[in-house]
Amino acid sequence: MIDIQNLSMSLSSAGRPVTILKEIYLHVPQKELLAIVGPSGSGKSTLLGLMAGLDRPTAGSIVIDGIDLSTLSEDALATLRREKIGMVFQSFHLIPTMTALENVQIPLELQGKTNAAQEAKRLMTAVGLEARFDHYPVQLSGGEQQRVAVARAYAGSPALLLADEPTGNLDSKNGTRVIDLLLDLHRDLGNTFVLVTHDMALAERADRIITLRDGEIVEEHTHT
Ligand SMILES: Nc1ncnc2c1ncn2[C@@H]1O[C@H](COP(=O)(O)OP(=O)(O)OP(=O)(O)O)[C@@H](O)[C@H]1O
Ligand SMILES: [Mg+2]
Repeated sequence: MIDIQNLSMSLSSAGRPVTILKEIYLHVPQKELLAIVGPSGSGKSTLLGLMAGLDRPTAGSIVIDGIDLSTLSEDALATLRREKIGMVFQSFHLIPTMTALENVQIPLELQGKTNAAQEAKRLMTAVGLEARFDHYPVQLSGGEQQRVAVARAYAGSPALLLADEPTGNLDSKNGTRVIDLLLDLHRDLGNTFVLVTHDMALAERADRIITLRDGEIVEEHTHT
């Protein structure tokens, strides 16, 4: 599903080059739930952003479903994201001027789905928000906003889900609920799921855990 070869990322900060990711090799097979852990600043979000094609690496290649991201234009990357990739972030990133239901419906409409409204309602119901269709994000609790974000990420049943500390802004009860939801949807859909987390108990539920430190994979642990 994901094939990363010799991936490096550096940026210049105050005129000095800073290496953020260094010679990463990573293969994520289809349907795998992969957890990425590591200290703050180790490059987890950068790696996830590169997988999503939100940034371009300094060196190396990322192939998703047989497509080398470096060969794609910005438009083609946006299309690939729309069709294949769902994303959940620590801060929910909902569109504030749209209702919860519209936030879920929009990506489906962009995908050209004819039953977008119906499908958005189904997803909102799946995340337990059937009574919140017409609420705006500010009228929702953090946990509810993140559940909308999960419903939106799963709109169109993406082959790949990328989540960056999806429970980072939630209390433990809401965090558990969001995680159970993500794991249930992953299991039902059988998609590939890459999850960045600080929560080791959660990481332990993944098929495999990789640990990043200073931009390098320093540990790998597979569940048997
Ligand atoms: N635009 C940028 N310019 C310069 N340095 C950056 C930039 N973006 C990120 N970095 C640096 O790259 C390193 C990795 O950042 P990244 O956000 O990937 O870490 P992370 O592992 O996700 O950390 P956290 O757990 O705190 O979210 C950090 O040292 C950060 O300061
Ligand atoms: Mg991060």
